[in-house]
Amino acid sequence: MEVKVAILDDNIAGPPIFKAEHGLSVLVEVDGRSFLWDCGQTSITIENARAMGIDLRAIEGIGISHGHYDHVGALLAVLMAAGPKRVFMHPEALAPKYFKAGPIKRFIGIPFSREAIMGSSLGLELSSGPVEVMPGVHLTGEIPRVTDFEGPEPNLTVRMDGEFVPDPFTDDQALVVETPEGAVVLTGCAHSGVVNILEYVLDRFGPIRAVVGGTHLGLGNETRLEPTLDFLEELAPPKMIFNHCTGTLAIARMIERFKDTFIPGQTGLSVTL
Ligand SMILES: [Fe+2]
Ligand SMILES: [Fe+2]
Repeated sequence: MEVKVAILDDNIAGPPIFKAEHGLSVLVEVDGRSFLWDCGQTSITIENARAMGIDLRAIEGIGISHGHYDHVGALLAVLMAAGPKRVFMHPEALAPKYFKAGPIKRFIGIPFSREAIMGSSLGLELSSGPVEVMPGVHLTGEIPRVTDFEGPEPNLTVRMDGEFVPDPFTDDQALVVETPEGAVVLTGCAHSGVVNILEYVLDRFGPIRAVVGGTHLGLGNETRLEPTLDFLEELAPPKMIFNHCTGTLAIARMIERFKDTFIPGQTGLSVTL
């Protein structure tokens, strides 16, 4: 079964007709039907889609990996361009989220209200568990934590009882396309841990055919790098496309270690799996 992924928004741009920003948006096409995984931070996503010849009006829905601005910031703009669509996310994605490091505090959550999303979409569908968004295409819902090296990230916080506490990221989920050749897995930032995500997908859907998306292996998560690379080497999915928050050191190590099975992601990249 053919599955196509097209990167509409990423931290790195391909040829000069495409634009980059800190963000992620990936269009997934399965049997001629398409679904948008994350929206990126700004309307760059729409410009890149246009430059790739992709008509966003054809998408059947939008799945949100987690409630950070770089994945949801362009949601209303995308809904304007695409027309009203169903929008799926975990309820905790709507919680206000902050970057907090010493005296520095920055809001990094969804920059508009639940009502604004409901008013621009065909419906905001909130679920903490798995949801089938198109035939054979699933949002995982909450990811069970099974590894001992993918713990909380102290600077990424939510407010609880007036205090900033590490975000438990119960909202962080993945998108899975079931195919006879194995599962195609799309991550957002993988705050819940890319190994936790892949262990869950292995358990629920079986062998993994491809992994695409952010893995958040830099930015204070360097201790995750080696055990993650070891896991991926052993898992050996036929194709890995990592990008967004993966980090330049991790990307360099992946190129070295995984050779032809690894493609560094960038805006404008379109791959038929
Ligand atoms: Fe994030
Ligand atoms: Fe991100």
